[in-house]
Amino acid sequence: MRFDIISVLPELLESPLNHSIMQRAKNKGLLEVYLHNLRDYGLGRHKQVDDYQFGGGAGMVMKPEPLAACIENLKAGHTYDEIIYTSPDGVRLDQALCNRLSMNQNLLVICGHYKGVDERIREKYVTLEISIGDYVLSGGELAAAVLVDAVGRLIPGVLNDETSALFDSFQDDLLAPPVYTRPAEWEGMAVPEVLLSGNDKLIEEWRHEQSLERTRSRRPDLYERFVRG
Ligand code: ADE
Repeated sequence: MRFDIISVLPELLESPLNHSIMQRAKNKGLLEVYLHNLRDYGLGRHKQVDDYQFGGGAGMVMKPEPLAACIENLKAGHTYDEIIYTSPDGVRLDQALCNRLSMNQNLLVICGHYKGVDERIREKYVTLEISIGDYVLSGGELAAAVLVDAVGRLIPGVLNDETSALFDSFQDDLLAPPVYTRPAEWEGMAVPEVLLSGNDKLIEEWRHEQSLERTRSRRPDLYERFVRG
């Protein structure tokens, strides 16, 4: 799977995408991430990428021409399943959307900055707008990093134990059960006996009950969805 990411601050994306599971996915050839500096398509001597907004008001807007030039250049080489714009007014990213996106081959992500991109870019190119939550970030880069991580780890073969993503929180609308490791007793607190029993069936039942209880108490919205099916 290939991500192309357009940004005015590509440096912000380098570290999160070059460690741990993302790095392994790239080393295995399962994930490719290409960062494109919008400044390279900037206008004039100063490589301008933003401008004042028509109608007045504080904050700059990303100009259409550099974005269009960058997008067209990338589209000439690849067919994108989606052209994504990261923005607080997009659809909320959740596990179902990550699952859906992980089945794609080529995704192009435009990171918003300043007041955002000129609306005409959204109209002409963007096929999906994604928000990672109801708060405003200084730019779309961190949202893009979240997106690549959450989607990238779902590509078959990326995680060592292929089944582990299936048991993540949210994968079936339930939160994950609590987990424990050695020592079996720490600071007077014991690991639940059932986990030491060696009885796989009992353990599975216990985990499921814990998942249900945790979801019911912490995320009644998800619990409702689970119960209603
Ligand atoms: N850009 C700024 N805030 C954002 C958010 N919450 N999600 C995605 N992109 C953003």
